[in-house]
Amino acid sequence: MGKDQVSRYITGLFAVHDLSLQEARESSPKKGLPAISIQPEEGRFLQFLVRANNTKKALEIGTLGGYSGIWIARGLPPGGKLITLEVDSRHAQVAREHFEAAGVDDLIEVRVGDAHSVLQDLSDEDPFDFVFIDADKSGYETYYEWAVENVPVGGVITAHNTLRGGKVADDNEVDERTRVMRSFNSRVAKDPRVISTIYPAGDGTLVAVRIA
Ligand SMILES: C[S@@+](CC[C@H](N)C(=O)[O-])C[C@H]1O[C@@H](n2cnc3c(N)ncnc32)[C@H](O)[C@@H]1O
Repeated sequence: MGKDQVSRYITGLFAVHDLSLQEARESSPKKGLPAISIQPEEGRFLQFLVRANNTKKALEIGTLGGYSGIWIARGLPPGGKLITLEVDSRHAQVAREHFEAAGVDDLIEVRVGDAHSVLQDLSDEDPFDFVFIDADKSGYETYYEWAVENVPVGGVITAHNTLRGGKVADDNEVDERTRVMRSFNSRVAKDPRVISTIYPAGDGTLVAVRIA
């Protein structure tokens, strides 16, 4: 049985789309956004983590058309909130439309700007119980460091695309982006402040829980 077949099996059981999720995933590319949303089973995994952690305040870095944001928002317990950061105002506008269509716009605040600068002010609004990193890969180490400092013990930090389609595990792959991701994974794996691993569905979601 191949990885795709297993993925379809998990998705068919646990990550079935309603119309809003389908619309957010399929219409984003039609509206000119890149087709780089997470996979459905990854969305369900994030949603599971958000609820398991009883997340009161979640942060996403990299909104795109709002697909992952809908999954996260729907995992929040009553009173929970999501702040999502997006550098591209067009992406942010499309995401807002999708959040409204999904009925989660009251739970989500979209902030437009470069996460590197927006995060500096956001420290005043901590703690965040859950952080999902899915933006420029060169920023991952900075975003992760910010996250560790702004989640409490027990807080969960996640980061997407940590397998680079399997390239991180292939010693013959020496391109810059793969090198950056290997370095990021290695840094988190050795960080004594967290317990971490990679959930290997889709393109790999690194997950870390702060312990110290
Ligand atoms: C991979 S997409 C996010 C996909 C989204 N999480 C989903 O699964 O539906 C990355 C997004 O991050 C945004 N981005 C890239 N660099 C950024 C930065 N420095 N600050 C904020 N957003 C950024 C891009 O414009 C893009 O919309």
